[in-house]
Amino acid sequence: MNYLENLLAEQIPTSEETKKLGEISSTIIQKINDICKADNINASCTEVGSVSKNTNLKSSDIDIFVTFDKSYSVDYIEKKGLEIGHRVLENGTEKYAEHPYVSGYVMGIKVDVVPAFKISEGEKIVSTVDRTPLHTLYVNSNTDEAMVHDIRLLKVFMKSINVYGSEISRSGFSGYLCELLIIHFKNFDRLMGYMANLRGKLIVPENTEDKFSEPVIIIDPVDPSRNAGAAVSEENLSRLKLASKLYMAGREDILNHTPRINKNRGTHIMVFVVKKPDIIDDIIYPQAVRLKNRIWDILHNNGFMPVASEIYVGSDIEILIECELGMLPGTKVHMGPPVESNESIKFIDVWNSNARLMRGPYILKNRVYVDVRTEQRDMEGIIRKELKNSDIGKNLNELKDEIKIINGEDTDLEVVRKFFSKYLFNS
Ligand code: UTP
Ligand code: MN
Repeated sequence: MNYLENLLAEQIPTSEETKKLGEISSTIIQKINDICKADNINASCTEVGSVSKNTNLKSSDIDIFVTFDKSYSVDYIEKKGLEIGHRVLENGTEKYAEHPYVSGYVMGIKVDVVPAFKISEGEKIVSTVDRTPLHTLYVNSNTDEAMVHDIRLLKVFMKSINVYGSEISRSGFSGYLCELLIIHFKNFDRLMGYMANLRGKLIVPENTEDKFSEPVIIIDPVDPSRNAGAAVSEENLSRLKLASKLYMAGREDILNHTPRINKNRGTHIMVFVVKKPDIIDDIIYPQAVRLKNRIWDILHNNGFMPVASEIYVGSDIEILIECELGMLPGTKVHMGPPVESNESIKFIDVWNSNARLMRGPYILKNRVYVDVRTEQRDMEGIIRKELKNSDIGKNLNELKDEIKIINGEDTDLEVVRKFFSKYLFNS
């Protein structure tokens, strides 16, 4: 038994757990069907997601869909969907994907109750979740016991190299992609062999015409106009390629290696921390990335020479930026016009009477130059000033003044840990 089978053995649900999941979902489905009947709602309830396909791991949730007749309005199914969700999930909280839905815990298991429109294969969908029940039908009719085993094995493998999950902050492979990959390649080892030798994009089926621009193109069999792999980042495709090579070469030592951590880099590491607004991660994460890019640009344009960065979004947004300089030099060389140009006398006049002149004007090759005193040298002051005039996103703009700036050496924040432990298979 190889190391992956050992990992799988820890994560595969036991028969008692499977029984418990079955009891939880049939109780909820029964309750929802009763509610629909009593209230005369033309909707039915189905279990979707990995539990309904036997591809779930211990950490998986139960996904329950309430599929409404297409004659209802979006407003109606959203309102009724939430109402039904709250009635069957005590302590349920409202989440937002394409529609709002209710998520809660039953006997320690996370359960989502999601409204959708009932569609059959080939019919036009109203929102993307409407396809989900068709995924269950497709996967169940195209897998056998061996494939279901290999789908779980692939999920465990993807998790072990940190590329499992389609949320934006992860940009990895969803459970459904794992299912489609095993269905297409028939088994785990063939997929590994293919990935180990793949050059360029991952395209499934291989002969798909290239009408998508993303690095991973996996056509959704229930809707061939959709790239189910659109959310996967190039880095995560690279991670899967390299991990597959290592797997085929029997190099688990590299896969499971603990990186050496060296903190004496002789650079300047600053951490910017702001409370995360109470908004779903898929919306706030891109704004946090924009803020990181904005700070990077400010540092770059002012000459601090940023060289690396890291981001972590937990209860706070934490942004780390490493620069070659922690403070700007007191004097800066400022290039003037060529001596022969009509601007040269004006340049000399302007700088001769400027209090910031430190040296010159002088001539180098064919131009006039001056050395100028840097007015503001400290990083924090420059950043605070420039951020005031920057748009950093709808939900972060109002928090600008609350951004804390901390020296990376004085803190053991998660982003600092993440930065120093960077390795092939963690970001
Ligand atoms: P889940 O995210 O719960 O995935 O979405 P899952 O397949 O059940 O996997 P785990 O075991 O919980 O991690 C439920 C269903 O929603 C659709 C798929 O049909 C999936 O089975 N879905 C979800 C997508 O098509 N794409 C996504 O990015 C996410
Ligand atoms: Mn699920």
